[in-house]
Amino acid sequence: MPKSYKFFQAIAILFTLIISWFTWQIPSAFAAAEPETSLRALAEKRGILIGAAVDMKALKSDPKYGEVLAREFNAILPENAMKLILLHPERDRYNFTDTDILMEFAKSHQMQVHGHPLIWHYAIPQWLESGNFTREQFIEILHDYIKTVVTRYRGQIKVWYVVNESINRDGSLEDSIWLRKIGPEYIDLAYRWVHELDPEARLFYNEYSAEEVGQKADAVYQLLQGLIQRGVPIHGVGLQMHKDVDWSSAPQLIENMKKLAALGLDLSITEMDIYIKEGFGNQQQALEKQAQIYGDTLQACLSIPQCVYFSIWGFSDRYTWASSWRGSQGAPLIFDEQYRPKPAYYAMQEVLSR
Ligand code: G3I
Repeated sequence: MPKSYKFFQAIAILFTLIISWFTWQIPSAFAAAEPETSLRALAEKRGILIGAAVDMKALKSDPKYGEVLAREFNAILPENAMKLILLHPERDRYNFTDTDILMEFAKSHQMQVHGHPLIWHYAIPQWLESGNFTREQFIEILHDYIKTVVTRYRGQIKVWYVVNESINRDGSLEDSIWLRKIGPEYIDLAYRWVHELDPEARLFYNEYSAEEVGQKADAVYQLLQGLIQRGVPIHGVGLQMHKDVDWSSAPQLIENMKKLAALGLDLSITEMDIYIKEGFGNQQQALEKQAQIYGDTLQACLSIPQCVYFSIWGFSDRYTWASSWRGSQGAPLIFDEQYRPKPAYYAMQEVLSR
């Protein structure tokens, strides 16, 4: 082989190596550096609460989790710790260990705490599910439970998601032990009791799949309108925003939010995550689409003065409910598994900086 050919071959290999090194670096470039400012700092300038649901196991075992949580968010709510099954596992026993830890964490990092969920059809403990109680006993149990929890955190929990997901996709009332044993008035009773016990707390209703215009959104509207007409203390509504990466209904979300705000209610996005389905383009396309949805939704919230709170369902792909519930992880959050900010994180920063 002539010497000049060997020389050109060596140059070509070197060139290829340099190009591959750059190409390899580019996708992780967005993730490499610590952000210069935090979502929290930007949100505080805009006067909005930016929050995340907290996985208590992660908070107790992974120091980086708490560090990023406190740096990036000024509000938190428990992903699971406040569910009846964990809070009141036996008829004569409450377990406030995790919720007390959460309150302490929030206090030491000047974060607001929101209570989620007080009443839900899911996560009901066995003693209640199979207990043979009369309607009067059920009402008493519900009242005692609300009294115990709300009184314990009175003044510390600023927003209560009092009733969670009481409506089906077709607009009918969701079957629940509360509906079966007490009747639909369990909703009015719960709001009235929480208000009596903590008049300063803002009381919200929380719902999934009511972001788009349609049957379910109409039913939620009617439920809230009915509560207001009956003088039940209700101050706001949370739309969850668990969506897939092919979601494209931001204009409908805005229309819906405006309609709800016209009822005199505050609004919040409560549980946002954007699941990347298999087969949706390549990784870069999926991350960009995910970023766009996070950005558009935050922008929708900022464009409506009554939208006071924007919360994500977790924050790092390391801990997401999607892995156990949807069969695959779906990378739905704004930090990757190594806590590196994803394009969705920067899309939110960009919207908050406008
Ligand atoms: O912690 C136990 C573990 O000890 C046990 O071995 C394991 C066995 O199943 O269960 C673990 O608990 C699970 C818990 O998540 C913590 O991972 C429960 O089974 C599981 O049911 C629970 O799922 C939660 C789900 O609500 C039901 O409560 C999800 O994490 C949580 O993200 C999800 O959150 C809901 C909101 O509250 C309401 N809106 C929809 C949202 C998503 O479904």
